[in-house]
Amino acid sequence: MTWTPKAAEIAREAGARLREFFAAGVATEYKGDVDLVTVADRTVEKLIRTRLGEAFPEHGIYGEEGTRERMDQEFRWYVDPLDGTTNFAHGFPQFCVSMGLERRAATLKADEDGTLMAAVIYDPMRDELYEAERGRGATLNGKALHVSKTAELAEALVSTGFPSRKRHQSPNIHFYHEFTLRSHGVRRAGSAALDLAYVAAGRLDAFWEFNLNPWDTAAGILLVTEAGGRASDFAGGEFRLDSREVLASNGLIHDELVGLFEDMFAGRALTPIPTPEEFAAQRRVRAKGLQ
Ligand code: IPD
Ligand code: CA
Ligand code: CA
Repeated sequence: MTWTPKAAEIAREAGARLREFFAAGVATEYKGDVDLVTVADRTVEKLIRTRLGEAFPEHGIYGEEGTRERMDQEFRWYVDPLDGTTNFAHGFPQFCVSMGLERRAATLKADEDGTLMAAVIYDPMRDELYEAERGRGATLNGKALHVSKTAELAEALVSTGFPSRKRHQSPNIHFYHEFTLRSHGVRRAGSAALDLAYVAAGRLDAFWEFNLNPWDTAAGILLVTEAGGRASDFAGGEFRLDSREVLASNGLIHDELVGLFEDMFAGRALTPIPTPEEFAAQRRVRAKGLQ
């Protein structure tokens, strides 16, 4: 492995800092209406920026909390120092450090994607370290990872997330509704990077979200594809880091998911919400059963 041993060491150090902040408790500030940030996000991004700069002085860094370093370089790290800030701020132990490395050819325009080369995601609460390098597979604590074998959405456990900015404009609640009715369940665990790592690990069969950023997805997408899964936009087209659509799965249910997205965007395949009369009738039946 070329980059991940050093990146993993940095992610572990960053995760240890997150654990300390989590145990001590931190004050929360607002970046937007419900977009939270804490001293942990900023301190840990600074730590990762320093350590990456020492380890890979020629690499660029693009971090959620404002780091923009050497953006003209061939290699660029996308860093989310704390993915799952809302969980962290509430004492809900589901969050991680995420670092994804992209290689950008000199001829690429600023809005074009390069190639994802390496990924490290660290869950400090479970001491779980996910690593991948292009063409070399993905691992969890050193053990090879493979996506699940679930072949239909009806038997799948899937997951999604909701944006913390402009929530009222997100159509995702409709997708959440529909996927809940058609699968074993939809989890909303609060860390997109860990959701993607869980798809790679076969703990989840698919993940989708609207409006994520490259620091949320760069590492997780490489983990999924290196673990044998597939990543795309909602129409099944090539996944792009700046795309506002992320769909990742075990590959086996991907076409079915793309078909469902197509139907839903076209206004088809929506399960109607029961009318107030239908709902009242259901309650009467249940009340009768209790008599
Ligand atoms: C958030 C988490 C969450 C997702 C949000 C992200 P943050 O990242 O990944 O699961 O639903 O869209 O913004 O703000 O905790 O780094
Ligand atoms: Ca994030
Ligand atoms: Ca973050």
